Amino acid sequence: MKFFSEKLNNIKPSGIRELFAKAQGIEGVISLGIGAPDIETPKKLKEALVEAVLNNFNNYDQTPGNVQLREEIVQKYKQEYNMDYDKNNGVIVTSGGVELIYLALQAFLKKGEEVLIQDPCFLTYPRQIILAGGTPVWVKSTSDFKMDLESVKESITDKTKAIMLNFPNNPTGAMMDRNELKAIVDLAVDNDLIILSDEVYEYYVFDNKEHVHVASIGDAYHNTITINSFSKSFCVPGWRMGYGVSTPELIGPILGYHSFVVANATTPTQVALANYINSEDAKIFREKIRETFQKRRDKIVKGLNSISGIEAHNSSGSFYAYFNVSGLDMTGEEFSDFAFKKAKVVFVPGTEFGQEESQKTFLRASFGSVDEEKIEQVIERLTKLL
Ligand SMILES: Cc1ncc(COP(=O)(O)O)c(C=O)c1O
Repeated sequence: MKFFSEKLNNIKPSGIRELFAKAQGIEGVISLGIGAPDIETPKKLKEALVEAVLNNFNNYDQTPGNVQLREEIVQKYKQEYNMDYDKNNGVIVTSGGVELIYLALQAFLKKGEEVLIQDPCFLTYPRQIILAGGTPVWVKSTSDFKMDLESVKESITDKTKAIMLNFPNNPTGAMMDRNELKAIVDLAVDNDLIILSDEVYEYYVFDNKEHVHVASIGDAYHNTITINSFSKSFCVPGWRMGYGVSTPELIGPILGYHSFVVANATTPTQVALANYINSEDAKIFREKIRETFQKRRDKIVKGLNSISGIEAHNSSGSFYAYFNVSGLDMTGEEFSDFAFKKAKVVFVPGTEFGQEESQKTFLRASFGSVDEEKIEQVIERLTKLL
């Protein structure tokens, strides 16, 4: 197409959005495709938004974000991780976590610089790295989908600029503990890499495990940009509210970029979240969802593993289960097609998230938007078929 910029030449469209469109309007379809929670936004938060609009918080706001929200974000990190961030120069509120990842890559990557990403990973990372003129470099996963330390070591070159970490992980649900992360963080700091730590699933952690805030490990603080979002934590993906914390040195260039891209994230949604995120209601809500997702996780992992030929990884966090269908002699793409046509169930093939060779027989099941009853139906349909 003659109007296309060459920037889009190497950008593969998102297969998840295609699957989402394909499944819409077909009766009886159960979609474990899209990564969004189905749980209703807390009533108090919805009321806070209406109030903000009625109270005329409808104007532009400051580029880094609403002052009160930035104060609440700083307080959140102090309360939850005993970490200090500067509310004036160390916090940014963006239009979703995705905007922050985009800004950080655009602001820091020089043409041809490399960013280490885990195979598999959130499909936005490699595309955004390419859009920023950089080169994504795939790092291997261990058999339980942690980032492989040896592979990180082997992948660092003099062109490596940054490493992307994401625990709890999309698409695998894997988590790494503090010691395991420290080995990677030390390597990153020793090589002067920027650490982009995507912690959007921090509250969805199962089996009494603890989320580790990467910036709090060893000497990571000065190298780390933490990416976060209200989409998943308070079930408002449509509000497009993301945020990040880091040092003034790293936030500064990102702010410069942000001011010319969206100027400021939506004002009334920021005011509503400022009045909500550290409230008692917010804490109760988060815990309720965590419990709900853990029950769903138990059901889906057990259910998938009960089907001969399928092997599901036990997700430790997020709302994804990653499973292997090599025992059925099918690829993930074949299984996705088969499950959709024969059982009206949508799964995303693993090749959407990583390298063709390594992810060929895997699929991701999102249990963010299917309740336990639907999960039972999915397992029933698959069991009958297989
Ligand atoms: C790992 C990860 N990071 C970031 C995001 C971005 O979320 P949002 O742009 O809605 O804040 C998502 C959304 O699916 C995600 O899975």
